[in-house]
Amino acid sequence: MANESSTPLGAGGKGVQVYAPATVANLVCGFDVLGMALQQPQDIMTMRLREQPGIVIQHSDGYQLPVEPEKNVAGASLLALMDEWKEKVGFEIIIDKRIKPGSGLGSSAASSAGAVVGANHLLGNPFSNEDLVRFAMNGEKVASGVKHADNIAPCIYGGVTLIRSIFPLDIVQLTAPPMYVTVVHPQIEVRTSDARQILRKEVQLKAAIKQWGNIAGLVAGFMKNDYDLIGRSLEDVIIEPVRSILIPGFDEVKKKSKDAGALGGGISGSGPSIFMMSREEYVAKGVEEVMIDVYTRLGIEFKTYVTMINYSGAKCMAL
Ligand code: HSE
Repeated sequence: MANESSTPLGAGGKGVQVYAPATVANLVCGFDVLGMALQQPQDIMTMRLREQPGIVIQHSDGYQLPVEPEKNVAGASLLALMDEWKEKVGFEIIIDKRIKPGSGLGSSAASSAGAVVGANHLLGNPFSNEDLVRFAMNGEKVASGVKHADNIAPCIYGGVTLIRSIFPLDIVQLTAPPMYVTVVHPQIEVRTSDARQILRKEVQLKAAIKQWGNIAGLVAGFMKNDYDLIGRSLEDVIIEPVRSILIPGFDEVKKKSKDAGALGGGISGSGPSIFMMSREEYVAKGVEEVMIDVYTRLGIEFKTYVTMINYSGAKCMAL
C-alpha cells in the first residue's frame, strides 16, 4: 500500500477524531479470554478519508513507532479492513499516543481498534463490532506475533468482555457494577512476546481446576454485581507466579493494596502495569498512595491512574 501523500495531512476529506481507551487484559485469572476498558488513559487519533487510495500515518507523540502501514499496528488493521471493502479508499491518520507502548495497558490495541473504529465511521458504519475486532487483531499480530482479542474487544465494545473463542470469533459482553481501578505503571520494559515466552506450556490439572473456578466466579461476580465474589475470584495460580518476577514490587503492592481495602487485582495484561479494583473511590485513592510509596522507596519511576470502567469503548467525534 502506498505511503505517499500528495495533499498535506489534515487537509483531506471527511474527518473524525477517535478516542481509544486503555484496557486491562486477562483480568488476573482469564489469560487471553477476559478484558476490561478503562476511562483513562486514552489515545487520540485524527482520521480523514483521502481521494487517493493508500494509508498515510503520522505520529504526533514522541514515540518512534513505524509509519509504514504493514509495520504499524493501526496500518495493519486498516489494511485488513480495506481488503474486505469493495471500493478503493484511502485514509490518513494522525496518532497521538497517550497510552505508553509496552505498558501492559493495551497500547497497541488502542491504535489498532481506534483505527478501524474511525475508518468504519468514515465509511458510514458498514462493519459490525465483531468485524472490527477481526480486523484489529492483525495489529496485535504485528505487535506481539499473536492474534489475541482480550484488549481489542473491550476497547471496541467497552466494559468487560469475554472472548470465548477467537477462531471463530465469539465475544460475550458482560455487565459489571461500577468499580474504581487504580493502576501503577512502573517505567520498566516488559515485552509481551517475552512475557509469553517464559510461560510454561503445560498446566497441572489441580491448577487448571482452581483457575476455571476463578474465571467462572469472576464472570458470575460481574453479572450478579457481587463485589465479594469478584474479589475472591481475582486469583491467578498459573500465569502470575511466573510473570510477577519480572515486576519489582509486585507482591508488596498487591498485599498492601488489599490491606488498604482493594477487592483484588494483579498484572495488567502482560505487565509491567499493576491494576487493583475497589468498590469506593476513597479506597482506590488509598491504593494509589500504597503504589506511590512502594515505587518511591524502590527508586523506580512510575505513573499512576485512578480511573473507572469505561462502558462505551472507542468513541468517534465527527470533525
Ligand atoms: N493476554 C495477553 C497476554 C495480553 O497476557 O499475553 C497482552 O497484552
